[in-house]
Amino acid sequence: MKDKRVTIVGLGYIGLPTAAVMARAGMDVLGYDLNKRVINALNEGEIIIEEPGLSDLVNEMVSAGRLRGISSLEESDVFIIAVPTPITEDKKADMSYVESAAEEIAPHLKPGNIVVLESTSPPGATEEMVAPILARSGLKIGEEIFVAHSPERVLPGKIIQELVQNDRIIGGINPESTEAVKEIYRTFVKGEIYTTDSKTAEMCKLMENTFRDVNIALANELAILAENMGIDAWEVIRFANKHPRVNLHQPGPGVGGHCIAVDPWFVIENHPEGRLIRQARDINDGMPDKVLHRILQLVQDEEAKVAILGVTYKPDVDDTRESPILKLVDGLLQRTKLQVAIHDPHVDREVFPYSGRLYDKIEDTVKDADLIVLGVNHFEYSTLDFSELGKLMKSKKVYDTRNYLNQKELAQGGFQVTVLGRGN
Ligand SMILES: NC(=O)c1ccc[n+]([C@@H]2O[C@H](COP(=O)([O-])OP(=O)(O)OC[C@H]3O[C@@H](n4cnc5c(N)ncnc54)[C@H](O)[C@@H]3O)[C@@H](O)[C@H]2O)c1
Repeated sequence: MKDKRVTIVGLGYIGLPTAAVMARAGMDVLGYDLNKRVINALNEGEIIIEEPGLSDLVNEMVSAGRLRGISSLEESDVFIIAVPTPITEDKKADMSYVESAAEEIAPHLKPGNIVVLESTSPPGATEEMVAPILARSGLKIGEEIFVAHSPERVLPGKIIQELVQNDRIIGGINPESTEAVKEIYRTFVKGEIYTTDSKTAEMCKLMENTFRDVNIALANELAILAENMGIDAWEVIRFANKHPRVNLHQPGPGVGGHCIAVDPWFVIENHPEGRLIRQARDINDGMPDKVLHRILQLVQDEEAKVAILGVTYKPDVDDTRESPILKLVDGLLQRTKLQVAIHDPHVDREVFPYSGRLYDKIEDTVKDADLIVLGVNHFEYSTLDFSELGKLMKSKKVYDTRNYLNQKELAQGGFQVTVLGRGN
């Protein structure tokens, strides 16, 4: 196995760590991406995304000659597709990246090759879309070319560890494909490997994220009800979860990221009978608007300055895809006259759509602001000195959408504090 050449197609948050971990397991790994910035950086032993431990591992593997970036595909034993599968305007999976990746791979296939789709895809994609494209090579799919889906379930921030430790599902288009792919993944996965067919594997991944989305929607509904009923949703959650079989999730300003906010749509895109899943999506997608309305209630002046702290889709990462706080910012800029200043130590200014409103220093962000909105509970924000920040503000108000800040300290500092989901 260790002498196998593996090509990873798409070197993002999933592809690049997978490439590095497989190189560490002893394989000869090629990384292919359409983005020249990614390839140039890789060949210098560098990365352009934030992920703990990734930079050092990539550097080590490139220096050892086990990982290199390529700008056009070459022959390989294994091809792993890890390109994006975003959502279209009409809430369907955009499979165009997967389609073009498969089309690019097909001419380079030779008998015995393995192709794995890691991109999260609607049930049936591996068998009904990827396999027929690969068949254009003239080789027999399932006999000469082995094809499977192996979904990724890593947690951003812990990708390097979880790629190895997590249990994994491998679903082939036939049992021979499943076994061939299992053998490859066994070289670096320490968790259990469960095998099934490709459509079931696709549905497993989607339902994992749908489970979380539906539960977050329930927590968000609780937050809305609690605000209207004069109850503290956070206290309800804390005490209800003392029940041995209850695990209420946490409310917030919405659900972001390219997984939980997106994958449930893939399940129901051709199935309107999925009513609960659709309702959960609508509740979660409606949260940025709820936050916007609360902001309008909290500021006196329609041209007041609002300082938003944190704009990524979750804490301590640099990823803003589907971020509900970005949706909030869109809404504030398009539908109100409020001035918006943003602070986020993680976002890459070069790719951030509102870089003109992004401040490096928190003091500049909150200067003359009427309201601070805590959008994301980045660790950095747990140590802010609000007594000093308050002196720079026009009025001392905080709206904490994550129930993260020290409310006692804020109240002692003279702040008026509003917490999402707290109705009393
Ligand atoms: N990031 C996660 O935490 C996570 C977790 C589980 C599953 N996934 C799934 O994994 C897949 C990849 O996600 P990601 O977060 O790594 O995406 P990403 O956007 O970070 O990276 C994708 C990369 O693919 C490249 N690319 C696009 N089309 C290409 C092509 N035809 N040939 C070569 N390169 C191409 C892009 O330039 C980009 O660098 C998606 O389907 C996603 O839903 C992601």
